[in-house]
Order: sequence, then C-alpha cells, then structure tokens
Amino acid sequence: PKPIDELIVQETGLVSREIFVDEEVFKEELSRVFARAWLFVAHEDQIAKNGDYVVSKMGTDTVIVTRDMEGEVHVLLNTCTHRGMRLCRNDMGNARTFSCPYHGWSYSMDGRIVETPGDLAGVPGHATYYHGELDKKDWGLVRAPRVKVYKRTVWASWDPEAPEFEDYLGDMRQYLDYALDGRDGSPGNNEMIGGILKWRVPSNWKFAPENFIGDNYHDISHRSVDLVGINPSGGTGRRDDEPDDVTTLGFPKLGHGVIGEMPYFAEPEFQPQWQTNPEVAEYYRQSHERRVERFGDEPRVSMTVGTIFPNMSFHGRQPRTIAVFHPISPTEMEMWRIFLVDKDAPDAVKDMARHYHLSYSGPGGLTESDDMENWSYATDSSRGEISRSIYFNYEMGLGHAREVPHLEGAVENGVFTEENARIFYRRWAEFMKAASWRELHPGVGPGPKPGRLIPTK
Ligand code: FES
Repeated sequence: PKPIDELIVQETGLVSREIFVDEEVFKEELSRVFARAWLFVAHEDQIAKNGDYVVSKMGTDTVIVTRDMEGEVHVLLNTCTHRGMRLCRNDMGNARTFSCPYHGWSYSMDGRIVETPGDLAGVPGHATYYHGELDKKDWGLVRAPRVKVYKRTVWASWDPEAPEFEDYLGDMRQYLDYALDGRDGSPGNNEMIGGILKWRVPSNWKFAPENFIGDNYHDISHRSVDLVGINPSGGTGRRDDEPDDVTTLGFPKLGHGVIGEMPYFAEPEFQPQWQTNPEVAEYYRQSHERRVERFGDEPRVSMTVGTIFPNMSFHGRQPRTIAVFHPISPTEMEMWRIFLVDKDAPDAVKDMARHYHLSYSGPGGLTESDDMENWSYATDSSRGEISRSIYFNYEMGLGHAREVPHLEGAVENGVFTEENARIFYRRWAEFMKAASWRELHPGVGPGPKPGRLIPTK
C-alpha cells in the first residue's frame, strides 16, 4: 500500500479506498490501532456476580472478561499458554476455574488459590512428567494491563503506556455520560436490555464508526424509518435546511465526535415522545423534572449519536445503545449492539424500550439493514483492481470548522459536513504512524498499572 500520508490526504479530504480493502493495511491497523487504543469490551450486567465471565473481542483476539472471586474485573486473552487451545468456548457463564480441554492446564480466578486471578493453578503431571520444574507463575493467562470500569461499561487496552481512560475521552466524556447516566442525570444509571445482538457484516469495520461519528448526510438511506414514523428526530427524510440547535462536534486531537446540541444547551421543555402508555409518560416526565432540579441552570450537553475512536459508537437518547465494530478481515466485521434503559425504571418503561429498540434497530428493525447494505456494497465495490486505486471524497465542509470556547479541544462543524469523518481518519493516520503513546498523547505519562502482556519465560 501507499505511505499513510498518501492514503489519507488531509488537505484535500481524500481517503484512499485501499484502507478499506488492503490486507497489509489491515494487519498494521491491528497492531497500531487495536493493540494500543482503549477498547470497549463488556457491560457490567454481563458479569454481575463474582465468577461471571463473558467472551469478548479486542481487535481479532478473543478475550475473557471476568469478575474474580473478590469482585475485581480482569480481561484475559482467551488462549491457553501451553499450546494455544481456545480456553473458553462459551459466550458467557460463571466459573471459578478455566480448564483447557486439550491437555488439562487450569487457570484460577480465586485469589486464595493463586497470586493473581488468571494465573496457572493446575498442570496434570506437574510433579511427574514435568519433574516439578515448570514454573507455573510464568505461564498464567496473558492479561490486558489496562482495564477500566466506567459507569457500568468495561474498557481495556493492551498498551501499558495508554493514557488514563478519562484522558483518552477528554471532553467527549460528557457525551458518553449523557448515554450512560439515567434520564434524570443520575450517574451510571443504566442496564442492558436482554443480551448483545451480533451481525457478521461483509464490510470494512471503519465504515461504521465513520457513519456514527456524524454522517447526517446519509439520512436519505433511512427513509423507511421516517415512513413508518419511528425516527427519533421525527425526520422526514433528507433535509437541506440546517436546524440551528443541532451540530456535529469533533475532537481533532482524540479522534472522537458526536452529533449533539450546540455545544451546551439549557434544559428544554419536556417533550413527550415514545409514550403511548401513561405510566411510561409519567416516568419520563418525572425524570425530566428531577434532571432540571439536579442541574439547575448549569449548561449541559445532549447528543444523539457519536463515536469513541476507534470502534465504539453510542446513541444517547432513544434509541439508547452501544455499538461495537470488531474487525475480522479487511472486508468483514462483526457488529455488536447493546441496548440500554434506566436501571431503576419500572417494568413498563423497560418493556417500551425493548419493543422500540427491536423495531428500530434489532433483527426485525430497519436502520441496521439500511446501513449494512451501504457499507457492504461500498466495501465490495472497492475491492477491484481499478476501483481500489481511486479515492473516496470527504471534502464537504473542508475548512469550515469553528472552535468551541467552552469545550476543550473541540470544533463545531454544522449539521451536514464531513469534518468529523476527517477527524476520525486523521486520528487513524496518527495511530498508524506513531511509534508509541508518547507521540499520540503528548503530556500524558505512562499508565500506572503494572501488567503482564507476555509470559516472562
Ligand atoms: Fe491447553 Fe495444552 S493447549 S493444556
């Protein structure tokens, strides 16, 4: 492939199609992006009790996200250190010990048995065939050295030098909070509705976070959502007039971006939406009142959808969801979607949210089908010898970004613009070029947590 500065041409807003189809670029991004960035791995509801685990992904690696017997969360590479057998082949469950089906090595999650949960506890024939010489301490599961539980979501990074998670988010954190806090603003008041929905999509993974970071321009794709009346913004298809209260906000130094209100807003009057059931309507009205009380006249953020670089996107309002895009190959990804609702909401509210999510974006919904069709065809029609040699055009709104005084490091770009996509690809190019986190996040020292990335022996 071409050098990075020829793949992403920042001055003209051109992006080479090679980054969506090329095998070499894909391999590089696994090591330079996915082995360094903070990645969303799980929701705490999936590991509620001690011993609970869920199998997740970081790049193309599978990991076990588990809560040990003392309640601490670990992210462990899902491969036996002996001969590489996939240790855990369930999606989720509860286990004090993971035993390898191949030769029987076992790893304990109990700190009373091993020094660190995830360490090797049992080796068949240790005293006899190994003559007691194998040092079990050196052959524990490989663990992500950085793990952060944030408002019921679990994140991890393979890079011990990654900045603190809050620094990685910067002021984008306020927008993530909007999605993870309760509708009345209560911190971290969210729970998962059901399990994760998963799709295998014949698309490069980057199309999805690029779309969620601020592609209002594609609303023509969701005409079907408008026609059946479930568009959260009450849309009517393509709009050429820019509403003055909505904009896209991007964080050029961080690679994150969002579609939100400009940039802070005063709490609007309560707008009854989504509520055909009086109990649901009352819950949202009371939540609104509590929110106004909680924040008073403080300026606040509000958002509909955004992306945290590289592969996590989220919706803050109805629908309130987390989406993750796991790379499989240059031309295939696995998309996961989790739906959220206030943890302390009554059953009627949770039921309403579940029904809404399923019609909007579940397997029987509309939006995923619209988007995945676009991303899959765009990937496929960029694979050819001639088509892969040309560039995508991202020049909408080039040079029109405006600084936002109250939001650190943010730019405000208007409703219809490709500035946020350019921000995403500029950050991607920085990751692809940088030798270490010191170049990616100047001023932020190495993280404090010790961790074993590779067995020492
Ligand atoms: Fe796991 Fe041999 S591969 S014990």
